[in-house]
Amino acid sequence: MIYLNDEEYVVCRKKQVEIFSFSGKPVPLVIKTIEWTPDQMEKGGYQHFMLKEIYEQGQAVSNTLENKIDHVQGIVNIPELAPHFEKLKQVSSISIVACGTARHAALVGKYYLEKFARVAADVDFGSEFRYRDPILNPKSWTLLISQSGETADTLAAQKESKLKGVPSLAICNVRESTLARESDVVIYTQAGPEIGVASTKAFTTQLVVLYLFAVQLGLLKGSLSEQQARELTSEVQKLPFLIENTLAMESKIEKLCTQLQKKNFFFFLGRDVNYPIALEGSLKLKEISYAHAEGYPAGEIKHGPIALIEKQVATLILSPQALSTEINPDPMSAVIYEKMMSNLQEIKSRGGMILSIGSGEDKKLQDQSDYYLGIPKTTWALNPILLTLPLQMIAYHIAVGRGTDVDKPRNLAKSVTVE
Ligand code: M6R
Repeated sequence: MIYLNDEEYVVCRKKQVEIFSFSGKPVPLVIKTIEWTPDQMEKGGYQHFMLKEIYEQGQAVSNTLENKIDHVQGIVNIPELAPHFEKLKQVSSISIVACGTARHAALVGKYYLEKFARVAADVDFGSEFRYRDPILNPKSWTLLISQSGETADTLAAQKESKLKGVPSLAICNVRESTLARESDVVIYTQAGPEIGVASTKAFTTQLVVLYLFAVQLGLLKGSLSEQQARELTSEVQKLPFLIENTLAMESKIEKLCTQLQKKNFFFFLGRDVNYPIALEGSLKLKEISYAHAEGYPAGEIKHGPIALIEKQVATLILSPQALSTEINPDPMSAVIYEKMMSNLQEIKSRGGMILSIGSGEDKKLQDQSDYYLGIPKTTWALNPILLTLPLQMIAYHIAVGRGTDVDKPRNLAKSVTVE
């Protein structure tokens, strides 16, 4: 007997599976066909599911983009949103709620929504949202992000927003999940099954959906011109190719990790849209390698954390530059880049080891750092997606080097179904 939720349980017999309510009544079974193939559920020659899933990201992103773009017009068009266009034109604020890695996607989503759609967005932890009696008005929407669609805290947040009469939009990877069923609108990521506990391809596909949603909303609200939306659409379509190029640095990363894994504390620093990626990099590392890691907005370190810097500490500086686009002609990259450079100096002068991740062959950053990795040069909005990949691979190789159980780290479950 297995408890399904707090109302029903499952009885598995040799030739029969039945569901009962706690009052003993049988619950009718509905048969649904899962689209995922058996091959997707196997390791396919990789040592771990996590590594396989890291390598599946180009395909997962391409599948996620597939039906959300009008390929004739060359512009974002998300069919799931079409029946809600009139309502979405009125939206004045969006509360994004999620847990763990999905919440880091939400933080990047806030930058996208505010930049492209000029709609105010706030981000909450699933476990906090309902306790602060959130102020939601008739033009607010709640956006819930979850790979599994079964995270108890995210579901509780959705319940809260329903009680307040606010429409809910879910970004989810699992069809027929509770979140998908309970939401007014669902946009699916097409990541395929994610088996490793550490979320990888679910995260990058969530970022892609958030990007597309922000562009769609920007078009509806008139804050993006068609020309700008076309440019953003064309840039995001390059992503699968850019992902493959970025993943090609794995052997370099593997070598580098033989040095990195000797450190006992890691800082991840980023600014602006890349700051949430510092949080994600540190979460990934701590959950699978058990190393102590912290992610910070780089400007915050002098307000306390810099006290921790010494020789045993490795700091990862996320400092890509951005291509200029029509919507973002000066993505502040020059100013932010210089500020990251002075953060780097502050750490260096205190004896900390530095690994920088920048764009392409960045000589200046390379010269100032102990180690350097270059991701392909891309736009402001796509940098966070590419930056994620080396951080996933760093977490993976440090964990392998430390001999931890990468796919099933201690104390963690793939889906946290209790509050
Ligand atoms: O299924 P969900 O996306 O709702 O899960 C949320 C978190 O539990 C999840 O992202 C967790 O933080 C991952 N283990 C991170 O890799």
